[in-house]
Amino acid sequence: MASLLIDIHTHLYPPSYLSLLKARKTVPYVHQPAGSSSPRLIILPSDDDPSIPQHQRGRPLDPSYSSLHLKLQFMKQHNIAASVVSLANPWLDFLPANEGAEAARMVNDEMVALGSSEKFKGKIFAFGTLPLSAPMDLIVQEIHRLQGLHKVIKGVILGTSGLGKGLDDEALDPIWHALEETGLLIFLHPHYGLPAEVFGPKLAASGHVLPLSMGFPMETTIAFTRMYLCGVFDRFPKLKMLLAHAGGTTPFLAGRVDSCVRHERAFLDKSGKLKQRRSIWEVLKENIWLDGVVYSEIGIRAAVDIVGSDRVLWGTDHPFFPPIESEETEQEWLSVKLNIEAVEKAQEPNSTSAKNILGLNAVTLLDLELPSEAYR
Ligand code: URA
Ligand code: ZN
Repeated sequence: MASLLIDIHTHLYPPSYLSLLKARKTVPYVHQPAGSSSPRLIILPSDDDPSIPQHQRGRPLDPSYSSLHLKLQFMKQHNIAASVVSLANPWLDFLPANEGAEAARMVNDEMVALGSSEKFKGKIFAFGTLPLSAPMDLIVQEIHRLQGLHKVIKGVILGTSGLGKGLDDEALDPIWHALEETGLLIFLHPHYGLPAEVFGPKLAASGHVLPLSMGFPMETTIAFTRMYLCGVFDRFPKLKMLLAHAGGTTPFLAGRVDSCVRHERAFLDKSGKLKQRRSIWEVLKENIWLDGVVYSEIGIRAAVDIVGSDRVLWGTDHPFFPPIESEETEQEWLSVKLNIEAVEKAQEPNSTSAKNILGLNAVTLLDLELPSEAYR
C-alpha cells in the first residue's frame, strides 16, 4: 500500500494577493507584457535585472500559482492526501505599516474560507501570514486570531527579515511570546537569499540556480543561527519551528556553530565561565522540525540524523519547480518524484520512519483531521 502523503511545503498566491503585486512596478511585482504572453512574477531581489528584457525577467506566472482547484488536481495526480498551504514569498513584508494588518486578515480569511469549504475540507490546511510591517499590537492580535481558526490554520509562515533587522532583534519578543503561548508552529522560509555580488557577474546566465540552491538555504541557516545565538530559544523554550529545505545547511554546520560558541570569548561571563545557554543540538531536537525538500537521500539522512525521523516532514514546494521540458503537466513532476525517492532511499521504503516522514509526522505535529479514506 502506498504511504500516506501529506505536503507541508506548498504555496499559493491567492487572487487578492496577486492584485497587490499587479499594482506595483518595483520588486516584488507582476509584469503583464503587451500581447498574449503570460505575466511574469518578478519577486526575488535578483529578478529585476535591467540587462534582461522585462518580459523575460523572473518566471512565468501561470494559473497554478493562484488556483486551489489546480492545487487539488496536482494533489490527485501525485496521490497527496492533504496539503498545508502557505502564502509564497515575499508575503506581506513589503507593505506600508498601515496596510499590513488588513492585508493579513484578508489573505488569512481567504485561506480559511477555502480550507473549510466542502470541496477542500480535510484536504487543505494552511499556515497563516503575519503583517510584519504593522504595529506590534496588531501583529500579536493577528496571531491570537489565527489560534481561533485552528481547524484550518496550523501555524504561520515567516520570512527572515523580521521587523527589518532580522530574527535576532529583541523587538520581536512579543511575537515569539504570542507564538509560544498559542502553540502555533512557525514555518521559517527564505526569500532574500544572498547579495548578488556573492554570485558574480555571470548570475543571469544560470537564472535561478544560484539564488534558489545556495542563496535560499544559506539565508535560512543564518536566520536560524542568529536566533539561536541571541538566545530566542532560551527565552522562549517552547517555540516550535519548521525550517524550510531541511534547515538549509544547518545539519552540516551545527557542529561548527557549537564549537565556535564554546570557543568564543564574547560569551564568557565576568568570572571567565561560558554563559549558560541551551546547546544547538538540544534546540534542534526540542524546538526544530525540518522539511524534506532537499531532493536527495543524503540531505534526508542528514536531516534525520540531526532532529530524528519523527521531526522530518515531506513537502513539494508546488507550484514552484514545475516540469519545464514540455507543456505536458499531466506527467509526474520530477521535483515531487525526487523528494519521494529521497525519503525512500534514505529510509527503507514502507518502513515506519519513511511513512512518518512522508505523512504521519505532519498529522501528529499539526493535529490534522483527515477523512478516514485518506488512510486507505
Ligand atoms: N522560488 C521561490 O521564490 N519561492 C519558493 O518557495 C521556491 C522557489
Ligand atoms: Zn517554498
